[in-house]
Amino acid sequence: MKLFVDSADVGELKALAASGLVDGVTTNPSLIAKQGGVFLETIAQICALVDGPVSAEVASTDYATMVKEGERLAAIAANVVVKLPLTWDGLKAAQAFSRSGIKTNVTLCFSAVQAMMAAKAGATYISPFVGRLDDHGAEGMGLIADIRAIYDQYGFSTEILAASIRSTAHVREAALSGADCATIPPSVFKGLLAHPLTERGLQQFTADWTASGQTILG
Ligand code: E4P
Repeated sequence: MKLFVDSADVGELKALAASGLVDGVTTNPSLIAKQGGVFLETIAQICALVDGPVSAEVASTDYATMVKEGERLAAIAANVVVKLPLTWDGLKAAQAFSRSGIKTNVTLCFSAVQAMMAAKAGATYISPFVGRLDDHGAEGMGLIADIRAIYDQYGFSTEILAASIRSTAHVREAALSGADCATIPPSVFKGLLAHPLTERGLQQFTADWTASGQTILG
């Protein structure tokens, strides 16, 4: 499963990308506003940090302006993915970008039928928001499995990008449910390797090795 980082914090992304395990980045208008930089410059900086896809979201909601904004965003770098809302105009824009070879990420997906419509529109990625569904009293991860079943049944190539991920458990469940990718906040990404038995085991191995008095490199 591909792991993306959900952030517009260039410094944080740079540190995480150094792990070699960041496959892409997603941003949204709220993350960009929180960061405070100039949007187009921030996207250019992120695109220079990672080789993989970087989702940059349009700000308008009408088809014609979304297409213009998406073209501007796509011109920033070859790895920009234009993020579009799951609306009629958004899906019309997804079709236009699909025809012109520009990759898209259709966002704010909360139902399997919405995901099917995005796939029919030729979206490259669909972003089901697992955590926000949980917040709403639904079982968010069930949506990933439903979309997987529909996409496999009809041979849709749209990739399922599990979004609004809140925990390591979410990452595990997304992987088990058949997501192609998950986009993860930096705090959750940093915790992916954490396990008390790993830490305790390493402390013990290090102490025992030191007591043995040996060295590997002489
Ligand atoms: C996805 O592309 C969104 O940016 C993100 O995952 C939303 O997460 P949130 O519900 O934590 O804001």
